Amino acid sequence: MKDLPSIPRYEVLRNRRTILKNPLPFHHHYFQKYGDTFRINLGRRNDWVFTRNAESIRHILQKNHKNYGKSSLQTKELAKYIGHGLLTSNGEFWRVHRRMIQPAFHKKKLEGLIRMMYKAIVTELKEVKVNAEQDIFPLMGDLAFQVVAKSLFSADNIRDRMQRLKEITIANQKMLIKEMRMPYLKWWFHLNGDIQKHLRLAVRARNLINGIVQERLDSKEEKDDLLDMLLSARYEDGKPMPRQQLIDEVMVLFTAGHETTANALSFTLMLLARHPEVQQRLYQEVKDIDFERGNSILALTQLPYTQQCLEESMRLYPPVYFMDRVSLAEDTLEGHVFKTGTVWLMSIYELHRHVDFWEDPDHFVPERFVADGKRDFSGQYFPFGAGPRMCVGNNFAMYEMLMTIAFLVRKYQLSTTREIKVHPLISLKPSEAFVKFTARI
Ligand code: HEM
Repeated sequence: MKDLPSIPRYEVLRNRRTILKNPLPFHHHYFQKYGDTFRINLGRRNDWVFTRNAESIRHILQKNHKNYGKSSLQTKELAKYIGHGLLTSNGEFWRVHRRMIQPAFHKKKLEGLIRMMYKAIVTELKEVKVNAEQDIFPLMGDLAFQVVAKSLFSADNIRDRMQRLKEITIANQKMLIKEMRMPYLKWWFHLNGDIQKHLRLAVRARNLINGIVQERLDSKEEKDDLLDMLLSARYEDGKPMPRQQLIDEVMVLFTAGHETTANALSFTLMLLARHPEVQQRLYQEVKDIDFERGNSILALTQLPYTQQCLEESMRLYPPVYFMDRVSLAEDTLEGHVFKTGTVWLMSIYELHRHVDFWEDPDHFVPERFVADGKRDFSGQYFPFGAGPRMCVGNNFAMYEMLMTIAFLVRKYQLSTTREIKVHPLISLKPSEAFVKFTARI
């Protein structure tokens, strides 16, 4: 792999401020200059390889997935704040827990959660300010957090604790970003106590969750929510998950499930606000949909255009814009041999806008996702990842997003005077996502 084009260390250091603010233009520049796969020389033992090559991404995530694990960015750096749950573990430990947790997210199981989700959505959307431009990202953040909270813990007396949990989740993510983007200052973050402070916050979050779990066990109530499922899941020997593991899995579901959905919803609303003709078509589809009466699952299947809008929004703005893996053994890709321990950073953002795969890649064209059997994007479109580690909550997220968009567009006309701006942190967030909601008559 030594013959792969490589960005020298001094280039990374020279551009560190720009990279910290928004690394996407830096990546794009080098993808254009060097092609779909290049190396970053950080002068360390391990090599970092960036790719937007669809075949290599499929190879790593699907075909040869056994040779790749999550890198220490997740299994150590993120795990020190949220523990070792599905998202942050590898190998047999991950496989065993995935087998236990996945059944709770099957479509059939989710049907039982739909009403709870919808109630949480309606409650949160009471905060919509009519006739004034409003930053929708905090609103969508609260909505997505409450939907996960209500689906996990259907209790009514947890709002304040959930608010605290949300604040901690956000604060720790900010810290993690600083650590990841300025690894050369890690010694300073230790010395000035920043890391210890955030580790204490993580302990507080775990205590909050532990308290809620204990209340559930003491009440002996059966709730049919995600917590009940985690409590009743069993290892092959018939034993339940240890309490600390259960808390890790809950922390992971909050972290993985709320921000990604909030981002996708905010970008979709901005796109609809900027494309009145798409919004009008979507309105025609949702205007008579009623999730409260009748069969909510059936209603969700009647929203193909809304689904296309969400798919196209996640193509342009994939919340998980990067995925990382580390190789467990030597492997050959694109004619190069990569040694054990190579860290792969797969740019989903770049792949989703690659001119070889998408016509008019920078334009919002939901029609490209029409399910007419003629087009197949499965080899180049990965908003939820691919292979055995694909997002466990993808159906959950789609249901939640379909209901939220349908509810809002049925009730309001959306408009905006703003451009769409991205703010890439651990996930791809929007910045200044101001939308005006005007009540439909
Ligand atoms: C639009 C919303 C969402 C997007 C775009 C998204 C995207 C992703 C992606 C790309 C991965 C794979 C990461 C990798 O392979 O490195 C992933 C994993 C995961 N997601 Fe999601 N996700 C979303 C919503 C959710 C929700 C709502 C939940 C749960 C309530 C969830 C739970 C998880 C978990 C637990 C994993 C780890 C799975 C494993 O490694 O076995 N996600 N997600």
